Amino acid sequence: MRYLGLPFIIYLVVIGTTIGAAQAPRSVWDGAYTDAQAARGRILYAANCAECHGASLQGGEGPALAGETFWTSWREQTVGDLLGHVSKNMPFSEDGSLAGTLPMSTYVDIVAPILRSNDLPTGTAELAQPSAVGVRIIAKDGPGELPATTLARVVGCLEKAGSGWRLVKASRPERVTPANQNATVAAAPLGDASFNLMFVLTRLDKYVGWKMTATGALIGEGGVDGINVTTVTPVAQQCE
Ligand code: HEC
Repeated sequence: MRYLGLPFIIYLVVIGTTIGAAQAPRSVWDGAYTDAQAARGRILYAANCAECHGASLQGGEGPALAGETFWTSWREQTVGDLLGHVSKNMPFSEDGSLAGTLPMSTYVDIVAPILRSNDLPTGTAELAQPSAVGVRIIAKDGPGELPATTLARVVGCLEKAGSGWRLVKASRPERVTPANQNATVAAAPLGDASFNLMFVLTRLDKYVGWKMTATGALIGEGGVDGINVTTVTPVAQQCE
């Protein structure tokens, strides 16, 4: 039994993972909602959201929820983030008193027509609060760079660059969200990107060669033109 036990457990884990992967959509392109749900959601949307966001989600008093605005706001986030934002902050009102007042099932159903209006496919299972978590909103051809001005975080090795500073061997920028803003980055892997750190107000001389993390708004898509730094924090004295 001692010798049979381990392979058997591994077997179960492998089967379990395979089944899990087949059921849960990983990205919006795997089909995160159903036709029936989008039809239901459409009616709820008309009653609760259309006055500000437009009958066909084109925008009005509130931003458009379809097209370019949708992709700029939500690309590289998850359907769970979208649902969280809507269910906490909408319907909008001056004093915030309407925010979060609808049942969660209503918010979930309303997200379905938002996905549909952005030409995202239907699937076999309805969207639910738990299944929305981790479903990535990415372009059809795969994850892309974060849009310019996104608040993001990178780790890298600090270098002097002229009169300024740069992180080299840096990771890809990760979007900072309320859920991960306090996450620890000590073990975060380095990468092969480099970023100019713009508008740094702290003296960093003693950290040259250290592993550092920088948070700030990306300048240019993916931070090609640097990061408008809000904080730079040392992670480790070596950079590896
Ligand atoms: C009274 C007008 C009003 C109503 C009703 C309303 N919204 Fe909004 N919505 C806004 C405004 C204004 C903003 C931008 C300010 C903000 O994000 O707080 C916004 C922002 C949003 C955003 C973020 C858009 C982005 O690109 O960042 C989403 C998503 C959204 N609303 C969805 C909804 C949904 C779904 C409903 C219905 C449950 C709804 N809203 C009802 C006015 C409204």
